[in-house]
This record gives sequence, C-alpha cells and structure tokens, in this order.
Amino acid sequence: WPFFAPYIHAINRLKKERDAVVLAHNYQTPEIFHCVADIAGDSLQLAKEAAKVDADVIVQCGVHFMAETSKLLNPQKTVLIPDVKAGCSLADSITGADVRLLRETYPGVPVVTYVNTSADVKAESDICCTSSNALQIVESFGVDRVLCIPDEFLAKNIAKQTNVKILTWKGHCEVHERFTAEELRAYRRDDPNIVIIAHPECPPEVVAEADFSGSTSGMINWVKQNQPKRVVMVTECSMSDNVAVENPNVEFVRPCNLCPHMKRISLKNILESLVYMREEVTVDPAVAVRARAAVERMINLGN
Ligand code: 13P
Ligand code: SF4
Repeated sequence: WPFFAPYIHAINRLKKERDAVVLAHNYQTPEIFHCVADIAGDSLQLAKEAAKVDADVIVQCGVHFMAETSKLLNPQKTVLIPDVKAGCSLADSITGADVRLLRETYPGVPVVTYVNTSADVKAESDICCTSSNALQIVESFGVDRVLCIPDEFLAKNIAKQTNVKILTWKGHCEVHERFTAEELRAYRRDDPNIVIIAHPECPPEVVAEADFSGSTSGMINWVKQNQPKRVVMVTECSMSDNVAVENPNVEFVRPCNLCPHMKRISLKNILESLVYMREEVTVDPAVAVRARAAVERMINLGN
C-alpha cells in the first residue's frame, strides 16, 4: 500500500483535472478496482455505464474490445486505454470476414456475437450478447437456429438451457479453457461442503461440476447473497481478491488463472494515460454505425 498510495493520489487528482472517469472490469487488480475505479462491473454493466458517462474522458481499465464498446456507445467522449496491447483471445479468434462467410454458409440464421469481439465483428452481427444475457438474446429471435459466436464454450453452456439449436465457432477464452472438471472434483473430494461457482466461458464439463454459473458480476452477487463458508471462484484471479475484501466471513479457495491482457493495466500506466492522454481508442465511423446498432439492440432488449 505505501507503494501504491502516491499513484492512487495522483490518479484521483488528475481525474478531476481532466474531467475523467475510470471504468474498471471486475478482473482488474484490487488497487485499481477499489481505489481508482469510479465504476466497476462486468461487461454488460460497463457498456451501460459508458453510454451514460457525462465526463469528457473515459479511462477504460480492461481490454481493448471494452474500450471500443465505450467509444461506440459514447462517441463524443475521449476514450483512453492505458495499454493498447490489452487484447483478448476470444476477440482475436474471429474477423469480420469470417462472419460474412458464416452468413453465406447459413443464410437467414441470426448472428449473435459476444461483446468480446472487435468492432469489425460487431458490425457484421445482428446483435451482441454478454455472459449475463446470452440466453435471453439467443431466445429473443423466436427461431430454431442461431449462430452464437465466437465463444464455443459459452455457446455450449447456453445450448444446455434452451431448445434453440446453437451454431458456434471455435473461439476460447485462454483463461477459462484451462480449468478442468477433474480439478473441481478434487476440491469436492477434499471438502464435500465446498461451494464451486464458475464463469460460463469455462468448458461445459467444468460448468457441470459447479453449483452456480454466471457473469463476473453474477458470481460476485451470488457470493454476497449466499455467504458460503468456503467457495472456489472458477475464473480470473483478481475476482477473489476483489470480493474477499467485502466478504470477510467467506474463505476463498483460489484455483485462479491470470488474464495476461487484463494484467497489462496497472496504476502506473493509468497515471501515464491521464498525464499524456493516451492511448486514444477510435473506431472507423462507417464500422461504428453498424457495430453500435448491434450493441444498442442488446442493451435495449434488456430494458
Ligand atoms: P463478464 O464480466 O461479462 O462476465 O466477462 C468476463 C470476461 O472474460 C471479460 O473479458
Ligand atoms: Fe479475453 Fe478471457 Fe482475458 Fe476476458 S479473461 S479478456 S475473455 S482472454
């Protein structure tokens, strides 16, 4: 903490000078999540909050597709990302050209894309989804077949909950694909009373071993409400760190995997971002207009 304090102080002072707000994903480290974020949340919450920002500047503490989504939803604002290399294995798994090819292969089948995609991919989609609303979005078309891309595991986990046939893509989250069902069973063998909650980007056989599955904020709220004695949060490492502070009576067992992209964001580069006003995230206006429509359709459906 003594090391972090000067950064936290300087960031919070510069936020006022620049009229900036810091939006942080739940996978950011505790010193960012608790000490400099104005708003923290899951992908859906951050998108909705970005649209409402009144300040001049948004500093996105998360990965690149999240900053692009903020820019799409609030194009007049300056959107900064502290490290432009903060990517995502899901976003990298598919291009706009891939989606156009899928449309040719499956004419007439609606295309739902996870928000973990580039603006180019969103622009080729009918609607976006996040892990907290994917089931609702897939069912919203009232048809029997939907493309739900690019996260194969999210799509398969949703498919178990609906009669809609879901066609998918071979994209994976490099953090969640590493968890195994056997790892979870070993926790249960050690402690039969342990509670296991998993993110839906995990492979279906992992989610099948869990007591609950939901988006990052869904998982946080579940812990807050249920106050399990011992819990395993099968997701990125910082989640348990962030939630532990607010749940002193819960013991967190941590089989976490780090997201190297989320971890590119630090107090140091957040401060530099505000000092030098970099890296500014822009989206080609012709792409933005179509990508924005896909994200807004998702948000409007939830209201
Ligand atoms: P959510 O916060 O929407 O659950 O997404 C998780 C994730 O992996 C974001 O990159
Ligand atoms: Fe992408 Fe997975 Fe990292 Fe989220 S946790 S940014 S889905 S690689």
